[in-house]
Amino acid sequence: MPDLSVNFAGIKSPNLFWLASAPPTNSGYQIMKAFEAGWGGAVWKTLGVPIINVSSRYGSLNYRDTRMMGFSNIELITDRPLKDNLKEIEEVKKYFPDNAVIASLMVESREQWHQIVKDAENAGADGLELNFGCPHGMCERGMGSAVGQEPEILKMIVSWVKEVATKPVIVKLTPNISDITEPGQAARLGGGDAISLINTIQSIVGVDIDNFVPYPYVDGKSTNGGYCGPAVKPIAMNMVKNCAQDPLINLPISGIGGIENWRDAVEFILLGASTVQVCTAVMHYGFGIIREMIPGLERYMTEKGFNTIDEMVGKALPNVKSWEDLNLDYKIIAEISKEKCIGCQLCYIACEDGAHQAIGLTHNGTRVPFIIEENCVGCNLCSLVCPVEECITMIRKDDGKLVGTWKERTRLGSIPTTFNDKLAGGLHHWVPEPASALKKS
Ligand SMILES: Cc1cc2nc3c(=O)[nH]c(=O)nc-3n(C[C@H](O)[C@H](O)[C@H](O)COP(=O)(O)O)c2cc1C
Ligand code: SF4
Ligand code: SF4
Repeated sequence: MPDLSVNFAGIKSPNLFWLASAPPTNSGYQIMKAFEAGWGGAVWKTLGVPIINVSSRYGSLNYRDTRMMGFSNIELITDRPLKDNLKEIEEVKKYFPDNAVIASLMVESREQWHQIVKDAENAGADGLELNFGCPHGMCERGMGSAVGQEPEILKMIVSWVKEVATKPVIVKLTPNISDITEPGQAARLGGGDAISLINTIQSIVGVDIDNFVPYPYVDGKSTNGGYCGPAVKPIAMNMVKNCAQDPLINLPISGIGGIENWRDAVEFILLGASTVQVCTAVMHYGFGIIREMIPGLERYMTEKGFNTIDEMVGKALPNVKSWEDLNLDYKIIAEISKEKCIGCQLCYIACEDGAHQAIGLTHNGTRVPFIIEENCVGCNLCSLVCPVEECITMIRKDDGKLVGTWKERTRLGSIPTTFNDKLAGGLHHWVPEPASALKKS
């Protein structure tokens, strides 16, 4: 049986699945319930000077039949007194000494940072997570993403924390920045032991078009919120990859953003995360999702021959290259399986209107379309829109002997450099005459 336990920057946990700092980690009651269900760790709802929240405070992006594909909130940090939270951290650690309890922290002055670090450690927290990510409410008070967007300030605050911390310090980054590696590097320079990302993305999740007020609705007004859930996973994974590939960061990464099953977790691990954190999926489906995440991951690891999480971390990173390093001589084209095709013709319309007019319709009674090989550029749009699994496959046409990259072509001087260059990539692609688009009378 593979070993799911982790030692994340010195924080030990029976498995890599942690709850992110958010409503599911608001109290000792919830965290104990989660640990009993099987979660390995929990990052406590951010501690600080307690706030006052508004209602309502959530908005949802529902896509077709999927509710909460994207989720937005305007909630702030904990609204509970510090002493209550600290007492409960202590209690949780008594019942679950082997699970990881990480205290998320957000305060203002150096004195406050020193005090809250000591308080959290005295309560028994195994690690500290510094919340430099909150994109609403707290940033207007000079905290949260206001710090995460200023690498120099972030570095300074991390170093304040490190002046007194004896437990590992995780720096939680905001995605509301153009280059995530800048605060990542600052976290390292300040002495941080690990980074976690992403916090929520600044957003407006929707507008009530009858009353002209965005969501969430607060007495006829609203404000920008923080976006999370499955919709943000691609953004989060790209940022995790960017940090994992940056030699100037070189810190353990806790991946967060849209994770709701073991597959999502595996993807983050392959891109460089060594623990994962979950918020929206638990708010949607409850702590019980862990009961499928653990065996799912174990089965995957067994199939792939991985014994430990460490063996998997970053396995996809060598395959993430710059565009200029991709092989321009790799050529594929679409192929339709006559046996599997249900004749919906979604591929036809996608290629006809949105790609390269490389799919034809027969007029012999069958609804199965055909590929016009010489027009197909191998973009794979048709295979993405086809509703039947593996009905459209992409078939390799080059012999694999040539590997010509943009970088290489640039070096050899064989790239287009003028507007009407003979080396243009699309020069030999067939396109219909414009007027043939008009309805024939
Ligand atoms: C309602 C809500 C409250 C949150 N509160 C906090 C918080 O107090 N501290 C923090 O660091 N992150 C907070 N987050 C951000 C989450 O920890 C997490 O970074 C983000 O939701 C992305 O993960 P997900 O896609 O799994 O939800 C909150 C998120 C939500 C939805
Ligand atoms: S989208 Fe798929 S199933 Fe539909 S016609 Fe095209 S190949 Fe057939
Ligand atoms: S791969 Fe692209 S160009 Fe080729 S048939 Fe499909 S949609 Fe058309």
